[in-house]
Amino acid sequence: MIAAYSATSQARVNAALETLFTAPSPELARLYEAMRYSVMNGGKRVRPLLSYAACEALGGKPEQANGAACAVELIHAYSLVHDDLPAMDDDDLRRGQPTTHKKFDEACAILAGDGLQSLAFSALLDPRLSALDAEIHLQMVSALALAAGPAGMVGGQAIDLGSVGLKLDQKALEYMHRHKTGALIEVSVKLGALASGRAEKDELKSLQTYAQAIGLAFQVQDDILDVESDTETLGKRQGADIARDKPTYPALLGLDAAKAYALELRDQALHALRPFDAAAEPLRDLARYIVDRRS
Ligand code: IPE
Ligand code: IPE
Ligand code: MG
Ligand code: MG
Ligand code: MG
Repeated sequence: MIAAYSATSQARVNAALETLFTAPSPELARLYEAMRYSVMNGGKRVRPLLSYAACEALGGKPEQANGAACAVELIHAYSLVHDDLPAMDDDDLRRGQPTTHKKFDEACAILAGDGLQSLAFSALLDPRLSALDAEIHLQMVSALALAAGPAGMVGGQAIDLGSVGLKLDQKALEYMHRHKTGALIEVSVKLGALASGRAEKDELKSLQTYAQAIGLAFQVQDDILDVESDTETLGKRQGADIARDKPTYPALLGLDAAKAYALELRDQALHALRPFDAAAEPLRDLARYIVDRRS
């Protein structure tokens, strides 16, 4: 079920994303090419899938979440382009291909990331992608800005970079992971729920509990894969965290305890979905996938 759901949802978001990279003039061709390269180079599209699945869990049509799905993937792509820069994680491989600054150059990669961030907000509001009420759009813009910005992902990245070589305790590590990765995963679910136009307060609360658990689980699994996967499968360099002495869950707890923790978070997420009916099955599958995935 998850394979078919993923394929359909990936095709849906990819078709929507494809419409966003037409350069308005020849002078901007390279910038747009770099942005397109950074987005359309594969990727699991987990965040868009979460937006679609949350919208459907509340009885919405997945197309209503097209703007949200594009927006979260564009923010994610921007975060990866900047994360890979020499000043940050200094990686040369992403999704099995050269990172954006390797394929183009560093200045171009910085600008492509900046451009993708703004493009995310235009996509969120683009009536060609999804036509929603202005009130809902306002809530979505506010939530995305908060999650992507200094109190969310950017803040998490700042903590990450300030923690290299330090020994964080579990509380500090969790705080970092909830910001650098959890915030965008959490908002992917929230935007999808809002796009349904039917989100009630208690449903949003249950979905938030679900999303916070899988958001943390996602980064715990990312840390685990850095230890036990391989570069070919990952499409990024295996062992990069170890080489850079990054604080990670396996480094703090050991591999077995980190794996047990990921499963515990998955169970917390599934528990939070108990009030939902079969329409939430894709969300349940995604929680299982996040901790079972090999890349
Ligand atoms: C990698 O994210 C970066 C993290 C936040 C851990 P993904 O594992 O979702 O990367 P892609 O989009 O599939 O390449
Ligand atoms: C990335 O975390 C989080 C963001 C890009 C916001 P990582 O640095 O662990 O991601 P990978 O492992 O390079 O994909
Ligand atoms: Mg990083
Ligand atoms: Mg990195
Ligand atoms: Mg990582």
